[in-house]
Order: sequence, then C-alpha cells, then structure tokens
Amino acid sequence: MKVIKKISLLLVIALVAMQFFSPTKNISAGNHTSIFLKETNPSPELKRIFATSCYDCHSNNTTYPWYNNIAPISYWLANHVNEGKEHLNFSEWENYSLDKKDHLLEEIEEEVMNGTMPITDYTFLHSKAKLSKSQINDVVEWAKQTRIIYQLGKQPK
Ligand code: HEC
Repeated sequence: MKVIKKISLLLVIALVAMQFFSPTKNISAGNHTSIFLKETNPSPELKRIFATSCYDCHSNNTTYPWYNNIAPISYWLANHVNEGKEHLNFSEWENYSLDKKDHLLEEIEEEVMNGTMPITDYTFLHSKAKLSKSQINDVVEWAKQTRIIYQLGKQPK
C-alpha cells in the first residue's frame, strides 16, 4: 500500500510539472492556403470542408480546443499536427511539384473515400468534421478534375 501511495504521488507530481511545458503551437499569420485555393478552385462548400475537416492538421494554422492546455494531451495533438503537415500541408502547396500535387490529390481521393481522413480520433471530438457521403463524393470529384489539370503539366492560373 505504501508503495502504491508513493507511486501515485510521484505520478501526480509529474503531471503537475508537465503543465509548465507545452509544445510550440501551429499558428502563423497570413492566409497561407490562398495559393492552394486559387490553383485548385474548390467550390465554397468544399472550401468549408477543408477548413472544418482538414486544416487543423494539414495547414500552418490549427484552431486549438481547450484541452490543448493540458499536458500530455498537448503533446499528443502536436504530434498529430506535425505528422499530418509532413505528409500534406495546404499552406505549402506552392512548394510542391506538379507530380507531387497530382499524387497528393490522388491520396486525398483515396483517404477520403476509404474514410481514413479525417482521422476518427478527430471526428470523435469534432463531430462537424465528419464527412457525409455526398461531401465525400464532392471531394473525390474535385480531386479527380483537378488532377487532370496537373497531369496536363499546366500550372493553373
Ligand atoms: C487530426 C489530424 C488530421 C486531420 C483532421 C486530417 N488529417 Fe490527414 N493526416 C493526418 C496524419 C497524422 C497523417 C499521416 C499519417 C497517416 O497517414 O495516418 C495524415 C495523412 C493524410 C494523407 C496522406 C498523405 C500521403 O502523403 O500519403 C492525406 C491525403 C490526408 N491526410 C488528407 C486529409 C484530408 C483531405 C483531410 C480532411 C478531409 C484530413 N487529412 C484531415 C492527420 C489528419
């Protein structure tokens, strides 16, 4: 019993100490997704979908929930954001080659169609981010059409 008490106390101390540290937030000034939006020309409805369901992990601006103030949740979220951005960052669209853009759109098509994106941990806590069947169809249709432009080797204006 004594040992359990000591371990619990140490855990509480560790949790309290952790609160003094937090990972750097993924927030930057300016509208970084404007080039992505200009090039791929999504409908207003699709724009809303990307903002609500994807940008938190795939852009340079995350809207943080209140529980991000609690460690170790903050580290867990930062990890999602960093990993998501590494794979696909809508704020850095202009830095991708035509091939990469084509490939990323193909991945978006697949991930959204399979229901792997947005990830379920996220939609569990952000119910608005969940995509309906018709929203999925709209994303897939948009991705298919936009890929043709990139495959033709033209940088859309
Ligand atoms: C909660 C964070 C989060 C949200 C929200 C999210 N993603 Fe992701 N996404 C990730 C992470 C983490 C990865 C990388 C690991 C993986 O594939 O599971 C990823 C990977 C991807 C990939 C794979 C890229 C590649 O190179 O293979 C695509 C495409 C993608 N996401 C698209 C989307 C789209 C589109 C949305 C919105 C409809 C979305 N994601 C929402 C976290 C997220």
